[in-house]
Formats: sequence, structure tokens, C-alpha cells
Amino acid sequence: MEKKVLVTGATGSTGRNAINKLLELGVPVRAMVHKIDSRSEDLEKRGVEVVQGDISVLDDVSKALKDISAAYYVYPITVDGIIESTAFFAQAAIEQKVGHILNMSQISARRISKSNAAQNHWIAERIFDRSGIPVTHIRPTFFAEWTTYFAKEIRENDRLTLPFGNAKYAPVTAEDQGNVIAAILTDPEKHAGQTYPLFGPVELTQYEVAGILSDVLGRKITYEPMEIPEFAKYLKDKRSDYHIQHVTAVARDCREGLFSGTNDLIEKITGQKPIGMFDFITRKKDLFISN
Ligand SMILES: NC(=O)c1ccc[n+]([C@@H]2O[C@H](COP(=O)([O-])OP(=O)(O)OC[C@H]3O[C@@H](n4cnc5c(N)ncnc54)[C@H](OP(=O)(O)O)[C@@H]3O)[C@@H](O)[C@H]2O)c1
Repeated sequence: MEKKVLVTGATGSTGRNAINKLLELGVPVRAMVHKIDSRSEDLEKRGVEVVQGDISVLDDVSKALKDISAAYYVYPITVDGIIESTAFFAQAAIEQKVGHILNMSQISARRISKSNAAQNHWIAERIFDRSGIPVTHIRPTFFAEWTTYFAKEIRENDRLTLPFGNAKYAPVTAEDQGNVIAAILTDPEKHAGQTYPLFGPVELTQYEVAGILSDVLGRKITYEPMEIPEFAKYLKDKRSDYHIQHVTAVARDCREGLFSGTNDLIEKITGQKPIGMFDFITRKKDLFISN
């Protein structure tokens, strides 16, 4: 029987894009989804084997990992529990003799991270390293999708409001990450033992992102930096305390330059240049326009 690759978080931003690329490459895929809904039905229609399960339940991940050659592991940033989930995933992968694990981490994953979630990502990396299974960690900077998280403010008030001060970083799209994930899952040996920081092509301040939004939309969008306590207040009833602690801590990290830098890894791994912010915003244009 031909072994499949497993994509967890299959309806999320990186998982969904990884599956698009794997299907394009003709690679047999199993998708682990949290819920059966129109998104999972769409995957099935496109020829993906769908298993429903909870990434924090040992028997669910064990079932999902059966007869899998290489697996992409991603845990949602919005809730606590990544360390236990990682330990379950590693144990199940050992039992199921999975050949390779590709782990979604982040650039701020450090022993001394201010963010609890980023420190947990660092511990999760160490758990996978100790599993004995060949592992690749990807550590992206902030996703380009952050601009879309605040689309309503852009659409309704022509304002981009983020807590990143004047910091520069190179936003990386979920689509480029999906291409990286697909490339690693289809040729994992080449990437065993590697930790890849992933960046978009150009470092930008949010003032420059607002300039790109203005150019693409043909109206003036202004960046109004939000102070970090104000950002925490804004998120208070919308997000978990765990998530708020994370995003406020990484906003500080970003202001201190931790998210900065760029490299040519995406092009080296996928053979394609990463998408820049002008093209990304052009593709997402409708989100920023009121009907
Ligand atoms: N955003 C950034 O700027 C950034 C930067 C660096 C690294 N990262 C890392 O990226 C990761 C998030 O990746 P993403 O953006 O691709 O994810 P995402 O879009 O937030 O999607 C999360 C996925 O996980 C699924 N899920 C949620 N709870 C689950 C559970 N208990 N069991 C099984 N599946 C579950 C969700 O399904 P449902 O929708 O059905 O719940 C969804 O498919 C995080 O680890 C974060 O640290 C993000």
C-alpha cells in the first residue's frame, strides 16, 4: 500500500495551502480536521482522505498517523496545551513508525521567550527532537495574513492599527508556507534535522504596508500604531488570556527586532520566489473594500 502524508490543521491557513500544493503535485494526502463541515467536505470532494479528530487526544492522533510516511504538525496558537499534544503526537508517531515530522514553530520560539506560547513552541521542538524520528522545524516570522485580521478597520475607517510600532519584518504568506510544507513532506530526508526561519521577500514597517494598501486600493490608508496595553484591552473579550499574553509579548519582541530579517530559504526549498506584500494585498483586495 502506498503511504500517504498527513496534514493536521487541514482547514487552517498553512494546512489548507499545503494540501493545495500536495494535490497539485499528485501526492496522496490524509487531512486531520477538527470538525466535519463544509471545509472538510470540500477536501473530500478534491480526493483527500479526511479523518476527524482532536490534536490533543492520543487515540485520535494515533488513528490519523496510521500508515503515514511524513506528517505536518500544527497546533492552534489560540489555546494552551501544545506541550501535551506534542508529546502525544510524538508517541503516536513512534508507535506508527512515521518516517518524518514537520513541526510548525515560530521565530520567537526560545528558552527565554516572553510569550508563554512561544516558550511552549520551543519545548515542543525539543520533545520532537527527542522522539528519535527525523524532524524539521519551521519558524516563520509574522504571517502576511495579519493585515487581513484587521481588514474591518481598513475597510470601514481607512486605518491599519497594529501594535508593532516602527519595527520592520518581512511578512510571509500562508501560501508560501504551504509550498514549503508540501516540498518537505514529499522529500523529507533532505530536510531532516533542519530548523528553517521563514520570511517573506522584503522587510517592511507597517507605515510601508499602509502605503502598499493605499497604492493597491486607490485610497489613503493610514497606519496608526497601537500601544501594547491598548492592544490587550482591544482583545480582552475577543481572545483567550493565553492568546492575549502571547500576542502582546511577541508585539514587544517585534518592536525589539526579533521578527526582522529575511533569507532565500523559501525559494531554495520550493524553487519559487516568495510572494511580496503588493501581490498579497492585490489578491486579498476584496477584503479591504466595502460593498
Ligand atoms: N500567525 C502568525 O503570524 C504566525 C507566525 C509564526 C508562527 N505561527 C504559528 O502558526 C500556527 C498556526 O497555524 P495556522 O495559521 O495554519 O493555523 P490556523 O489557521 O489558526 O488553523 C488552526 C487549525 O487547527 C485546527 N484545530 C483547532 N483546534 C484543534 C484541535 N483541538 N484538534 C484538531 N485540530 C484543531 C483548526 O480547525 P477548526 O478551524 O475547525 O477549529 C484549524 O484547521 C501556530 O502554531 C502559530 O504559532 C503563526
